[in-house]
Parts: sequence; C-alpha cells; structure tokens
Amino acid sequence: MWLLAGEPKTTRAYCAALVAAIEANADASRPQPSGLVPADTYWVTDHAGDGCVVVGFLQLRHTLNARLREIGGHIGYSIAPSHRRRGHATRALVLALGRAREIGIDRALVTCHDDNPASARTIEAAGGVLEDTRAGVRRYWIEL
Ligand SMILES: CC(C)(COP(=O)(O)OP(=O)(O)OC[C@H]1O[C@@H](n2cnc3c(N)ncnc32)[C@H](O)[C@@H]1OP(=O)(O)O)[C@@H](O)C(=O)NCCC(=O)NCCS
Repeated sequence: MWLLAGEPKTTRAYCAALVAAIEANADASRPQPSGLVPADTYWVTDHAGDGCVVVGFLQLRHTLNARLREIGGHIGYSIAPSHRRRGHATRALVLALGRAREIGIDRALVTCHDDNPASARTIEAAGGVLEDTRAGVRRYWIEL
C-alpha cells in the first residue's frame, strides 16, 4: 500500500488514511492519482455466525485504462485463506456485477492468472467467457 510509508498497517492512523483513500478513489468527480481509475472498494462479509466478519475485499473499477484492459480488468477480489472455499468470492463477484450494471458497465472484463484455478472457476461460475490469455493472464468477459 502506498499510504503512510513506514506506518504499521494495524494503527488507527493507517486505517483512517486507508479509508480516506478508498473514499477518494470512489469519487469519480475527483482527479485520481496517476494510473488509477475511479473504483469502489467493498468488504466481503460473512454473517453466518453470531456477528459480522470481514472475510475479504473486492474492488470494482468504473472504467478501464490501457493496463486494466490488458490484464487488470474491472473487478479484483481476495478472500482470507481461512475463509476460502465457502462461496464467498463467487457471491461477491455476482453482487459486484449487479452493481457494475447499475453504474453503466454493460460488459465486464475480469481476469486471473493462468495458474489460479480458484479465481478462474469463480469467474466462470459468474458467466465469464474466456477471450484470450495475455502474458499468463486469462481475460474473461461477462455480459451484463
Ligand atoms: C480466488 C479466491 C478469491 C477464491 O475465493 P473463494 O471464496 O475460496 O472462492 P469460492 O469459494 O467462491 O469458490 C469458487 C470456485 O473456485 C473453486 N476453488 C476454490 N479454491 C480452489 C482451489 N484452491 N483450487 C481449485 N479450485 C478452487 C471452488 O471449488 C469453486 O468452484 P466450483 O463452484 O466449481 O466448486 C481466493 O482463492 C483468493 O483470495 N485467492 C488469492 C487472491 C486471488 O487470487 N484473487 C483473485 C485475483 S484474479
């Protein structure tokens, strides 16, 4: 993370800076740092137990720049190792695709490395159609 170099990631100051950066990144009316497009960041949560547990995150990019069109795609996500293989990534991706449609994306690019079968299956479960593989990155499109 580019925030507060040297600051431990568990401090209140770091978390506040992270949330502020996420909020700024979600505001399409604001200029973005070089190389960044406006994007929404979501926590993926699990409500199955007594409370609400954050189990991962997902980022929905509003547009594609050249690099995202090549390898990054519209949507990125990660689930904590201790909470994998419970359907969280598939659920989060499907929810994000609904949101993508709401903000006017009619065709979402979602990518994963060729050696990441978990992510490939997640994308395929959400309707991804493989277009090609570039530099070891599988590029899927999902019609919305
Ligand atoms: C990829 C990742 C997000 C999947 O999260 P998850 O919550 O475990 O995924 P789900 O439980 O929704 O499972 C999705 C599919 O992947 C399969 N899968 C999950 N882990 C797998 C593994 N290690 N090997 C093979 N398949 C796997 C599941 O069986 C499921 O397929 P199915 O519907 O055909 O049964 C998670 O492994 C992760 O965070 N990896 C590190 C970060 C990453 O790679 N992010 C994606 C970048 S493109």
